[in-house]
Amino acid sequence: MTADRSEPQPERFDRYMARCLYGPGGFYATRGTAGRRQGDFITSPEVGPLFGAVVAEAIDGWWEELGRPDPLPIYDVGCGPGTLAKSIAVAKPDRPWHYVGVDVVETPGSMLAELPEDLSGAVVLANELLDNLPFRIVEGGADGLLEVFVVDGREVLSPTELVFDLPIGTRAPVLEAADRWVRQTLAAAPARLCLFDYGAPTTAELADRGGWLRTYRHHQRGRDPLVDPGSADITTDVAWDQLPTPTQPLVRQAEFLRRWGIERLVDEGRQWWTENAAAPDLTALRMRSRISEAEALLEPSGLGDWWVAVW
Ligand SMILES: C[S@@+](CC[C@H](N)C(=O)[O-])C[C@H]1O[C@@H](n2cnc3c(N)ncnc32)[C@H](O)[C@@H]1O
Repeated sequence: MTADRSEPQPERFDRYMARCLYGPGGFYATRGTAGRRQGDFITSPEVGPLFGAVVAEAIDGWWEELGRPDPLPIYDVGCGPGTLAKSIAVAKPDRPWHYVGVDVVETPGSMLAELPEDLSGAVVLANELLDNLPFRIVEGGADGLLEVFVVDGREVLSPTELVFDLPIGTRAPVLEAADRWVRQTLAAAPARLCLFDYGAPTTAELADRGGWLRTYRHHQRGRDPLVDPGSADITTDVAWDQLPTPTQPLVRQAEFLRRWGIERLVDEGRQWWTENAAAPDLTALRMRSRISEAEALLEPSGLGDWWVAVW
C-alpha cells in the first residue's frame, strides 16, 4: 500500500508561525515593516518621544563609560518605522551617534535580521523584537513532554526531544530563535546590547500564569493563531531564563526608566509648560505631553511591567 501523498504533514508550531508572519502572504510580508504602526498596538517609542529621550540618557551613560567614542554606532533591530532612533537623535542632537535601523528583510520566506558580523564598539537596541521571533510550544504530558504541531488548521501533540519540567496540562513557549538571535548578536561583541520586551523572568512563571501566546490585529487581541494564518501578528511573552543571562540585573521597564531619569525629564516638562502655558508653542506642548507619556510608560500593569535586559 502506498502512502497518500496529498495528506498534510504536521508542521512544528515555530515553522507554522514563521510562515504566518514572514512567509509569502504572511503578516509582515503583506503589511511591511510598519505593520504594527498601522495600529495593531502601541509600543513604548510610539507612545511619544519621552521613551527615546530616556533611552538617550542611558546611551549617554554608556557612551561616557566607553570613553565617548566618535562615532558611536547605534543599531535598532526590529526598528519598524524607526521612531525610537528619531527620538534619541532629537534628545541628544549634539552627540556623534550614528543610527542604523534594521528590520526584517522583505523577501518572501525570509526572516533575517541583517546585522554585521562585527559589532564591536556599537550599541544594539531592540524593542519588542524577541516576542516576534518564532517559538516552539511544549506541554507537560502524563508520559513526558509533548510538542505542538499544526495540521489542517488544528493542533496535534507529539512527543518531543525538548527537556522542560512542566506540570501536566500546562504549556510554555520555547524561544529557540530568540536565544539564537541573542547569542549571535553577543558573538558579534557589541559594547552594549539592550533589549526591551514583555514577559517574565522564568519559564515556570509563564507556564503557571498562562496567557503568554497572543495574536494582535487592528489594535485588538486577535483570535486563535490557527485561524486564518497570516492575518494576525503572533507573539509570546518572553521567558528571560531561556536566553543568555544579562550582565546587568534584569529589571522592569519602570525601574530602568526611573534609573535613567524619567522623573527629571517629566519635571522639566512640567516646569516648561508652566512657564509657557500662556503662549504655548510646539515645544511647550511636547513638554506637557511628557506627563501623560510617563504615566503610560510607567503603568504597572502595562508598559512599566515590561522587562529590560542589558549585556
Ligand atoms: C512590535 S514591532 C516593534 C517595532 C519597534 N521596535 C517599536 O518598538 O515600535 C516588531 C518589529 O520587529 C520586526 N521583526 C520581526 N522579526 C524580525 C527579525 N527576525 N529581524 C528583524 N526585525 C524583525 C518586525 O518587522 C516589526 O517591525
